Amino acid sequence: MARKPLMAGNWKMNNTISEAVVLTQEISNHFERDWDESVDVLICPPYVDLKPVWTVLDFDKTGIGVAAQNVYWEQKGAYTGEISVPMIKEIGCVASIVGHSERRELFGETNEDVNRKVKALTDADMFAIVCVGESLAIRDEGTTLDYVCAQVRAAFAGIDVFKARDCVVAYEPIWAIGTGRTATPEQAEEVCAAIRTTIADLYDEDTAEGMRVLYGGSMNPGNVAALLEMPNIDGGLIGGASLDASSFITLIEACI
Ligand code: PGA
Repeated sequence: MARKPLMAGNWKMNNTISEAVVLTQEISNHFERDWDESVDVLICPPYVDLKPVWTVLDFDKTGIGVAAQNVYWEQKGAYTGEISVPMIKEIGCVASIVGHSERRELFGETNEDVNRKVKALTDADMFAIVCVGESLAIRDEGTTLDYVCAQVRAAFAGIDVFKARDCVVAYEPIWAIGTGRTATPEQAEEVCAAIRTTIADLYDEDTAEGMRVLYGGSMNPGNVAALLEMPNIDGGLIGGASLDASSFITLIEACI
């Protein structure tokens, strides 16, 4: 089954509203409208930038969508500082990243939290971009596949197949994030293939074949082609290189 590639730019905690509008305009200016047929593109800016970024993309009819970087699982109430699924949905988001390693490591997010977020998103007919990935210590120990596949199982626990189908898994080895040290295409492929096997095991072959598995971790214009050549890598979750319009456009073009 041919899977349509997805390139998602994770801006992390970068860009004020005015900076975000300028960068989005630059991306939009260089985005060819017919690329929509060959690749899905998402921008994941900080919450405060979501509305202005979406306004530019929508006005320019780019076909590029917006997604949040995180979301809370409760609908509303006394959760100071949190943002709910209905809030990001009304802004125009189609998805949210969940379980990014920075959230797990710096903000104590657990596998159970990730699962609640996947459930809240899919219950609202949105999709989750579920991040998984091992530390260098786990890789050196030789338990990467067990560790990552357990994260995948936990994220999808109790999620109905029809809701899971639209979700995306992003394999992001922690040692490759923002370090300039990319996993080799073979290392990334090995884990992405194991993720797909886990999905087949949890659900069925069709669901596994249809689900997009992304690679993330220092993806850049120099390494993108070799990574995308791998049969189980269906695109990228891009941090640093998505903050520059021309490199993000180059990464998108690599999917065409
Ligand atoms: P990076 O970040 O591309 O800067 O390594 C990727 C990510 O954390 O999603």
